[in-house]
Amino acid sequence: MDIVSIIEKKKLKQPLSAEEIAFFADGAARATIPDYQLSALLMAIRLNDMNREETVALTQAMAASGDQADLSSIEGVPTDKHSTGGVGDTTTLVLAPLVAACGVPVAKMSGRGLGHTGGTLDKLESIKGFRVGLTMEDFIAQVRRIGLAVIGQSQNLAPADKALYALRDVTSTVDSLPLIASSIMSKKLASGARAIVLDVKTGSGAIMHTLEQSIGLAQVMVRIGTDAGRNVVALVTDMGEPLGSHVGNALEVKEAIDVLAGRVTGPLLEVSLALGSRMLVAAYAAATVEEAEARLLEALRSGRGLDKLREMIAAQGGDARVCDDVSLLPRARVIRDVPAPADGFIQSMETMRLGNLTQHIGAGRREKTDVIDYSVGFVLHRRIGDFVSAGEPLATVHCRNQEDADMAELTLQNAVPILRHKVPPLKLVHAVVEAETVTRL
Ligand code: URA
Ligand code: CA
Repeated sequence: MDIVSIIEKKKLKQPLSAEEIAFFADGAARATIPDYQLSALLMAIRLNDMNREETVALTQAMAASGDQADLSSIEGVPTDKHSTGGVGDTTTLVLAPLVAACGVPVAKMSGRGLGHTGGTLDKLESIKGFRVGLTMEDFIAQVRRIGLAVIGQSQNLAPADKALYALRDVTSTVDSLPLIASSIMSKKLASGARAIVLDVKTGSGAIMHTLEQSIGLAQVMVRIGTDAGRNVVALVTDMGEPLGSHVGNALEVKEAIDVLAGRVTGPLLEVSLALGSRMLVAAYAAATVEEAEARLLEALRSGRGLDKLREMIAAQGGDARVCDDVSLLPRARVIRDVPAPADGFIQSMETMRLGNLTQHIGAGRREKTDVIDYSVGFVLHRRIGDFVSAGEPLATVHCRNQEDADMAELTLQNAVPILRHKVPPLKLVHAVVEAETVTRL
């Protein structure tokens, strides 16, 4: 087999065979195909697309290119959840303990912040001592013991994706539906969960901005997972504004603890319950979404969810006292209210810009080696549709210094337009996508 004829075929819009796709993925993983040929094929795929069979073949070849976790020694159905990336989107920290407290094993491999989005690993590392780098043996042992572990992907998980993703980033080929779907799903399949709930974001802070694109991505990912024998369902949820009110690593941990302690309700809890209840159903632990949601709420009200988080933090070396005293989390030096510049209703939010702001003031990395400041971020005091009076606090920024706070203040005032006319709040869950059906809500 030779790579030039595979590129030629895709250039002429012909479908590739599973063998040709496996040759490509293997060549990427082992670096036996040079970057310029991989890049040419990526661009041909970006321009000429892949059909369902090709996308499934690419996903399976990338999943098989490295380590594959064997979670079969875990009792019950190991369950995972994956978000396509959001801002103030800390559902994992809320739902994973609740789902585990309901007896469903949660074996989750999470990522770090990417672009404007936050990452669960960075958030967890804002807890003093917390270790995300467990060995596969320790990961499985912890899930067997307490029903919950959240760790980073092992170094050798889907190396073909690692190589291709790095090239996509610099060849303008990130925005390809089959490439995004296969990238995400190859890692999910290799990480071993049998039941997977996908949270596909839509709106100004998501990779896919329109509802139709987001539903399309969800369908492709659900079909890939289903074809690979996993129980997969996707919710398309809104990212037209940050999901929680807190954005930034330690701030998001604080909000998750506040939710689990019953002090805070609202969209973060609602979306966490929507996703978590699908996890219980996908793991055959509840017959209906309604029954599942009632059980999650019972775990919340009884405090068993917060107990489970405490247990996980302790098991992974972290200071579990944060669950009872959030003031133990890192705190920024400069904390300042941002006044609303006018009277009126919050119309919309430039959510990607808000995410980028958070990374810019130190919550994320711009280069791989950058060190994160866990304490920085902001807290929004209003959501889309809310009224605010001029001079009232629109947000509170948490920054390293006054200059960052000045910039954050200005960006927030500009990225959150306020006008006289009333607008409705955003719908939180737009659609449920299963292998053969799309239910719009
Ligand atoms: N996240 C991934 O892991 N891969 C993509 O292609 C996009 C988002
Ligand atoms: Ca994420």
